[in-house]
Amino acid sequence: MSNVFDRILVTGGKGMLACAFKQRFAGGQLNVKFADRTICDVCDEDSVKRAFHDIQPTLILNCSAYTKVDLAEKEQAAADQCNGYGVGHLASLCRDYNAMLVHFSTDYVFDGTLSRPLQPGDPLGPLGAYGKSKLLGEKLLQENAPARWLILRTAWLYGPGGPCFPATMVNVAKQGKPLKVIDDQHGTPTFTYDLVEATLNLIHLGANGIWHLTNSGETTWYDFTAAILEEFDLKTDLSRTTSADWKKLKPDSAHRPAYSVLDVTPYEQFTHLPMPGWRDALHRYRTALEQPAAL
Ligand SMILES: NC(=O)c1ccc[n+]([C@@H]2O[C@H](COP(=O)([O-])OP(=O)(O)OC[C@H]3O[C@@H](n4cnc5c(N)ncnc54)[C@H](OP(=O)(O)O)[C@@H]3O)[C@@H](O)[C@H]2O)c1
Repeated sequence: MSNVFDRILVTGGKGMLACAFKQRFAGGQLNVKFADRTICDVCDEDSVKRAFHDIQPTLILNCSAYTKVDLAEKEQAAADQCNGYGVGHLASLCRDYNAMLVHFSTDYVFDGTLSRPLQPGDPLGPLGAYGKSKLLGEKLLQENAPARWLILRTAWLYGPGGPCFPATMVNVAKQGKPLKVIDDQHGTPTFTYDLVEATLNLIHLGANGIWHLTNSGETTWYDFTAAILEEFDLKTDLSRTTSADWKKLKPDSAHRPAYSVLDVTPYEQFTHLPMPGWRDALHRYRTALEQPAAL
């Protein structure tokens, strides 16, 4: 990456996506600080100011987030603090320090009523508290935007270093427990390592603005689970359910979009690079878990 970014601050430095950046930057020459909330609490403007003063970053990769989608229904204020106002704090400080801000958002800012791959400019309408908080962050970033910024919407993210859907499915299957999985929500699983690579490509090529970055293709949670069991050579009783029946079973769960496939064509046309397919990515996830050095 360009020398312009000689001091990089990764917020949420112990999270799953941050872990993928850590793996990517390992052994390299870049000056990267992975900051957890004890060093940079995005909800606390003074903490963010101190971190900027101490680190003098030229590029911020904001991997911090409140990511408990269901719990957010009861904790809207906490989700807004981190995913909304926290992003506003980072944007303001980036403007003061003339630093670039790279922020990650979600397919859950869409309501899922369109049934074709979604463009960055498509109408927004989050169904749940988490999506609302992420949309607030997008708005506050743009209102306080530094000269260079990226909002990268991704979806169904998984990778080493964090609790994630595939890891949960593998654990349940290993215990021989049955799995009942929603089959009427369509989206695209995204491997953190591929998101990291695509992010660095956009930064390197001077991109600005809102982009959609997922693996390519689409699936349902049910078919994704079937692929996970196949990839990890696991057998267990796997059955389908619907969003409506799931909501009856788990009344406190958040509504999620029925269709939130994000269109990655603009990224592919801009970079002249393909986004790897989600099934191939799942295979590389297994490899990463088994032999991290192999990637
Ligand atoms: N996971 C997904 O399926 C998914 C899908 C679409 C988009 N995304 C987006 O992708 C990005 C990365 O997600 P992820 O899966 O890597 O999340 P993650 O594993 O939950 O990591 C988030 C990190 O943020 C930290 N954090 C929480 N509140 C903070 C605060 N006030 N100040 C500083 N750090 C704070 C957390 O620390 P603590 O452990 O101390 O709370 C955690 O280490 C997020 O923007 C998320 O919204 C994720």
